Amino acid sequence: MKKSILLLTLLLSTFTWANNSADVIEARQKAFSLIEDQLDKASDLVDGNDTNWQQLELVAKQLTHASHTISFPEGSREGSKASDKIWQDTTKFEQLMAQMDQGISELYQASQQHNASMAEDGIDKAEKTCRSCHRAYRSR
Ligand code: HEC
Repeated sequence: MKKSILLLTLLLSTFTWANNSADVIEARQKAFSLIEDQLDKASDLVDGNDTNWQQLELVAKQLTHASHTISFPEGSREGSKASDKIWQDTTKFEQLMAQMDQGISELYQASQQHNASMAEDGIDKAEKTCRSCHRAYRSR
């Protein structure tokens, strides 16, 4: 019984390894698209005292989750739009990623504190990172 579970685990992990790169790429492209949509949605939701805070908090949670699922492990370039430079210049790349994350986390805090101007700042901060990162690290 134990042996067959071990074998199954081994088989599964080999299978996962072989598909890993394509999955990672698909997952991060989806996560980025979700971030794009949900930031737009957040922008629409923020409306001074008329903001739907509950809805905004939900959107901010989805953004946080999506942002945390994005990863660029070595060897995940083939078949994606990721540029080689990501792995040559990791520090700058990670800084930009962290800035996007900070904006999202500011948005989340703002949604809890019912602070509309802080929410707008958070969205702006996150959106500022898109173009600068794509220009340097996404090839078409
Ligand atoms: C730190 C770098 C970085 C930041 C910040 C970043 N992106 Fe990207 N983005 C990338 C890279 C690299 C890809 C290509 C990923 C791939 O093909 O595997 C990508 C892909 C995408 C895609 C998938 C569509 C496509 O080209 O296949 C969308 C949509 C996207 N980004 C939107 C955004 C938005 C919106 C923001 C800002 C809120 C953002 N990105 C911030 C690096 C970044």
